[in-house]
Amino acid sequence: MASVQPDSNAVFSIRRLWPMDIVFYREHLLRLDPESRHSRFGGGVSDTYIDAYVDTAMRPDTLIYGSFDEARLIAAGELRVLFGTWPLRAETAFSVEKPYQDHGLGDQLFTRIITAARNRGITRLGMQCLSHNQRMRHLAQKHHAEMTTADGETEAQLIPLTFNPISLFEEWMGEADGTLSRLNPWKPTGLN
Ligand SMILES: CC(C)(COP(=O)(O)OP(=O)(O)OC[C@H]1O[C@@H](n2cnc3c(N)ncnc32)[C@H](O)[C@@H]1OP(=O)(O)O)[C@@H](O)C(=O)NCCC(=O)NCCS
Repeated sequence: MASVQPDSNAVFSIRRLWPMDIVFYREHLLRLDPESRHSRFGGGVSDTYIDAYVDTAMRPDTLIYGSFDEARLIAAGELRVLFGTWPLRAETAFSVEKPYQDHGLGDQLFTRIITAARNRGITRLGMQCLSHNQRMRHLAQKHHAEMTTADGETEAQLIPLTFNPISLFEEWMGEADGTLSRLNPWKPTGLN
């Protein structure tokens, strides 16, 4: 596969993925390099596993935000509501393609996911990663997660604040920005 070098001035906006975007999500997860794929799924998984996983990802209990470099989905954050739990709980996971890692996309996606969880009345947001995944652990800590580590895995738990008009506005603004930048061909792109 040809390697991609992002424009060093790029700023990639984030938007919610809809069912017609499932093809982009599948391609994104399949493109992850072996180490990132291992980190994302907590172990080595096959393409067939990813195919089956993506088939479950566009259900009404799942919300995905993604960032695009032109027509290519390069990063995603997933929120899965655990139905049947009360108070409502959810789990989250993140993936950023290697050339785009360490440029703030994971942090931005995390912020969007926390706001979305907050606005949906989720009282506990869980995230699991391998315990040597320093970047993910750092981001979880930055977002005030409580962390426990056992058997090579770290479990992070966040308690989103109760929603308010500002958090609703934040979600709306984020979505409007993502949509507008898709429509506006003159908006500069580049990484921060
Ligand atoms: C983990 C992941 C989602 C993070 O996304 P990202 O876009 O690379 O991360 P960001 O650039 O937003 O933030 C990285 C942060 O970690 C810090 N960091 C980087 N390397 C680090 C290290 N070795 N130790 C501690 N912190 C580190 C950075 O300084 C940055 O912190 P800051 O925001 O306070 O400046 C991404 O790297 C990824 O997809 N990895 C593979 C899949 C994966 O691990 N998924 C998580 C399982 S759910």
